Amino acid sequence: MNMQKKDVMIALDFPTKADTLAFLDQFPADEKPFVKIGMELFYAEGPDVVREIKARGHKIFLDLKLHDIPNTVGHAMSVLSQLDVDMVNLHAAGAGEMMRAALEGLTRPDGARPLLIAVTQLTSTDSNALKNELLIDTPMAETVLSYAQNAAKNGLDGVVCSPLEAALVKERCGAGFLTVTPGIRFADSEVGDQKRIMTPANAAVNGCDYLVMGRPITKAADPLAAYRRAVKDFLGK
Ligand code: C5P
Repeated sequence: MNMQKKDVMIALDFPTKADTLAFLDQFPADEKPFVKIGMELFYAEGPDVVREIKARGHKIFLDLKLHDIPNTVGHAMSVLSQLDVDMVNLHAAGAGEMMRAALEGLTRPDGARPLLIAVTQLTSTDSNALKNELLIDTPMAETVLSYAQNAAKNGLDGVVCSPLEAALVKERCGAGFLTVTPGIRFADSEVGDQKRIMTPANAAVNGCDYLVMGRPITKAADPLAAYRRAVKDFLGK
């Protein structure tokens, strides 16, 4: 299941299907980037936007971060699996039984399934919120790593993490455990609201498997050139 294939994903953070397709239309017919569809576009346009982008030949990471009781997550994952997406995710905080139900729901009759990735702690949760609101006394770094380890133990394929954490995650969870990393910026691009950033070339060195890049590509004057630059820096081709 673990198709260890490094790639650059473009975060399609657009409000409508029309904006999204207009963006994708800039790519030539034989160049189909792996894309990430998040809650905003999915909730606005529903599963049809996923089907349409899939039919155009793109691989899709459907970033909906499921978190509910095992029965509900299992059934919801079964619906997402039928959309023929390539990667989905859930919150590791849902714990082992939920993760195993998700895997079962995702698995298609022929045994194939999308990759299943865990969110450990949202990067918007700081140490203060972890301790005083979530009542977790374990330091942030250790919390993230032990959530990742629990995801690996329960059969998940990897985690979303900062590129700065990728090497540590691999060390703790094994080289084959995938790291999907946002927070990627070219050395000369705007940082925006991302704080803990890395270039595509350094992300490759640090053991990142899938780079998630939004604005450095979607807001570039020439998105196609920016995408190709990211692929070249990351994969060396
Ligand atoms: O535009 P930018 O490259 O910052 O986009 C990064 C993408 O990764 C966005 O879709 C954002 O929601 C997502 N993401 C993130 N940080 C996380 C988890 C997801 O930036 N910790």
